[in-house]
Amino acid sequence: MTRRWVAERKGEHYYRMAKRMDYRSRAAFKLIQIDERFRVFRPGDKVLDLGAAPGGWLQVAVDLVEPGGTVAGIDLRSIRKVPGARTVKGDIRSPESLRRLRGMLDGRADVIISDMAPNISGAYSTDHARSVELCEHCLAAASTTLKEGGKMVMKVFQGDLMPRLLQDVEAAFDDVKVHSPDASRKTSSELYIIAAGFRGAVDAHEAAENEEDAPEFSKKGSLP
Ligand SMILES: C[S@@+](CC[C@H](N)C(=O)[O-])C[C@H]1O[C@@H](n2cnc3c(N)ncnc32)[C@H](O)[C@@H]1O
Repeated sequence: MTRRWVAERKGEHYYRMAKRMDYRSRAAFKLIQIDERFRVFRPGDKVLDLGAAPGGWLQVAVDLVEPGGTVAGIDLRSIRKVPGARTVKGDIRSPESLRRLRGMLDGRADVIISDMAPNISGAYSTDHARSVELCEHCLAAASTTLKEGGKMVMKVFQGDLMPRLLQDVEAAFDDVKVHSPDASRKTSSELYIIAAGFRGAVDAHEAAENEEDAPEFSKKGSLP
């Protein structure tokens, strides 16, 4: 039984489950597993989903913040209507898009989730660097759209820029964890950063400059 065979069977398993449960993506199970472990969502929360198409995470978030929650999502691609969520087509790097999202939530979010991924080039270090860049944009978006004390879940492809990224996240949040949910392919290099206790609109880069001992992260597997 090869690792690839096991990974493919697991992929099929989550794919079939997603179909059966009417989730738009297998990724929905990653968010469910993250929430089971880290208790990210509470009823009534306002949630911002960055890179939300086709909408699996939106479906999960809508369920987990009931009753009384609000969910808004954005993606470069159009998102077919998800009951209970509002969506916008746009780029998270645009301040105008972020303004629109704040308007949809009627204020700042309790939780930001990002499953954003760059277009995969196949070159490991390029894809890693682009993924980290998206994470930095996500952090910047938090400074204008996340409440103080809020939480963030974001995907990153592992690589040598990871310690620096973690420094930036740790400068902005009280509690930071890194996790690989079972629903991620074992051959994938993706990890999820789960951060809680947002300290507000700090300049994460500047704060990180002063930090010395960055945590060590090893490379694992290939890109998804
Ligand atoms: C893996 S998919 C998200 C899957 C989603 N979580 C789900 O469960 O359906 C990653 C998405 O990130 C989006 N994305 C990448 N860069 C973006 C950007 N700058 N602004 C908005 N969306 C972006 C892509 O268009 C893509 O749809």
